[in-house]
Amino acid sequence: MKDTAGFNFAGKTALVTGAAKGIGADIAAQFIRYGANVIIADVDEQGEAVAARWRQDGYAARFFRCDVSQGNDVAQLAAYAEQEFGGLDMLVNNAGIFPRATLSETDEALWDRVIGINLKGVYLMCQAAVPGMISRGGGSIVNIGSLHAATGASDMLAYAISKGGVVTLTRNLASTLAKHRVRVNCIHPGWVASDGEMARIAASGENGDTLEKAIKRMPMGRMQTGNDIASAVVFMMSDFADQITGQQLTVDGGISIR
Ligand SMILES: NC(=O)c1ccc[n+]([C@@H]2O[C@H](COP(=O)([O-])OP(=O)(O)OC[C@H]3O[C@@H](n4cnc5c(N)ncnc54)[C@H](O)[C@@H]3O)[C@@H](O)[C@H]2O)c1
Repeated sequence: MKDTAGFNFAGKTALVTGAAKGIGADIAAQFIRYGANVIIADVDEQGEAVAARWRQDGYAARFFRCDVSQGNDVAQLAAYAEQEFGGLDMLVNNAGIFPRATLSETDEALWDRVIGINLKGVYLMCQAAVPGMISRGGGSIVNIGSLHAATGASDMLAYAISKGGVVTLTRNLASTLAKHRVRVNCIHPGWVASDGEMARIAASGENGDTLEKAIKRMPMGRMQTGNDIASAVVFMMSDFADQITGQQLTVDGGISIR
């Protein structure tokens, strides 16, 4: 029987992209809580302050500035992980942007930016991390998707397509890497009041009433939190999920069953 007292990632190293704030910061915090060494990778230098606070409390946290859409940045990040902790056991591809734009509103630069960060970034990160995982005898990757991978979201053309690509990439790599004991799964958050989402709502002029009405329509009566998503991530990374690969887990309080 596996010990059900809790997750234990002592001696393991996790890298979370886009973890300077938002959902990624909550995922990084849960890895810290369960004993992992954690690397926060983000374009936002605020990640250094987040890692420094964890270090002050005696935890093994590092920040590395990295734009996941840039191959050189990603290669340097992988080398840094090797140098600091001898490589990675767990990778969470969480960094993402979610601009609203329909087909007619999506110019080539926006398309390239969204696909570059949300999809190419995941491919680059996996390509950089997987050889080290294989040489350590296995590993686990969680890609953060979105309900819009399935809905298509007409007002978020490039975003929805990037997340659809993430689902396909998850299945492709799960199949390629199973023989190396590297598991690859995808977690779809529902609606999380992250830093980025709150900034988007404020900029769009949606008022409190609109938000409240939207929340009332949520089957379980509330938005999800970063910790709701982080709990699913640590489960997926743990030995309890040892036989789960190529799967999608939706954490949306029932939004998608409506
Ligand atoms: N918030 C939601 O409701 C929601 C719903 C579904 C999916 N998601 C997904 O969850 C993930 C996290 O979103 P969030 O809501 O926490 O957003 P957020 O904006 O609060 O945080 C995203 C983080 O990613 C970083 N980032 C952006 N571009 C980057 C790049 N090129 N390289 C490295 N880091 C980069 C940002 O600096 C930021 O720290 C995203 O992939 C998003 O698509 C969020």
